[in-house]
Amino acid sequence: MTSQNLDRIYEKISSVVPEIEWKFHAPIIEKINKLKKEKDAVILAHNYQTPEIYHGVADISADSLALALEAAKTKAKIIVLCGVHFMAETAKLMNPSKKVLIPDMQAGCSLAESITGQDVRMLKEKYPGVPVVSYVNTSAEVKAETDICCTSANAVKVVESLGTDKVIFLPDHYLANYVQKNTKVKIISWQGTCMVHEKFTGKEVEDIRKENPGIKVIAHPECPPDVISASDFAGSTSSMVKYVKEKQPKKVLLVTECTMSDNVQVENPNVQFVKPCNLCPHMKKITLNKIYDCLKNETNEIKIGHNIAEMARKSVLRMAEIGR
Ligand code: 13P
Ligand code: SF4
Repeated sequence: MTSQNLDRIYEKISSVVPEIEWKFHAPIIEKINKLKKEKDAVILAHNYQTPEIYHGVADISADSLALALEAAKTKAKIIVLCGVHFMAETAKLMNPSKKVLIPDMQAGCSLAESITGQDVRMLKEKYPGVPVVSYVNTSAEVKAETDICCTSANAVKVVESLGTDKVIFLPDHYLANYVQKNTKVKIISWQGTCMVHEKFTGKEVEDIRKENPGIKVIAHPECPPDVISASDFAGSTSSMVKYVKEKQPKKVLLVTECTMSDNVQVENPNVQFVKPCNLCPHMKKITLNKIYDCLKNETNEIKIGHNIAEMARKSVLRMAEIGR
């Protein structure tokens, strides 16, 4: 990577990354991009990754559905998944012959941790014959007990694809609620929540609207129902990005993990972002130094036991067939 390329990256993100920080980021970004080529690796990053990762080293930055689909089609030998553990596991399920690395094995998710395979077996006993739809924010063990996975980008479409009058939808209670408002299929939900999105309130949104007349409010469907009803639009992280890009509102509030506003702001300089800041501590475990170390030493490889992988793969491939 030439110093010109590095300068170009900084020019892009200078509004959200202070110069003093860039001095530390630039040399490691250069090393990662060089190593990526040498090792034939691809870096897939979630939209919540910090700007120096999202704009500096990622080959693809996207929502969890697009990351899964990109993992399936990559020709690279190694996938470095900059996001949380379930995303890396999903990448491995989508493309089992690849080496999938995650820069920090402890990058978890409160939703994925809210339910076990045993819990799903218990639900299936309680509701015999009712199909199980699992959010991708689940472990491979839970996916193995699942008929079909979904993300927030295709949850309603996946539920309706089953042609049943009832589905078990887990683990996110609020996403289940959002799906229920958009379908006639009866949703049986679980009590999981996202520790980031559950903190937002409808009152907070209304207060921000009063202070910022004309502001557009777009929310992630993991938010509580009063937040969704106080918003102009709800959708997956990539649908939120698309909304801003296409509609170019004067002022916008993204009701989601707040790093995403920085990433989107960089690409939409004419839009003003109001940023109440709820960070995902798991997503923030991923740093440039950890990306470099895991790629250099090929550590933190995702391994899934054969039986679980075989069963879990079916549910993610079925989701991929449905698409967005
Ligand atoms: P998306 O699928 O919308 O990117 O969301 C993933 C996630 O973990 C949101 O908290
Ligand atoms: Fe999980 Fe919430 Fe973090 Fe997304 S933001 S990874 S749902 S804890």
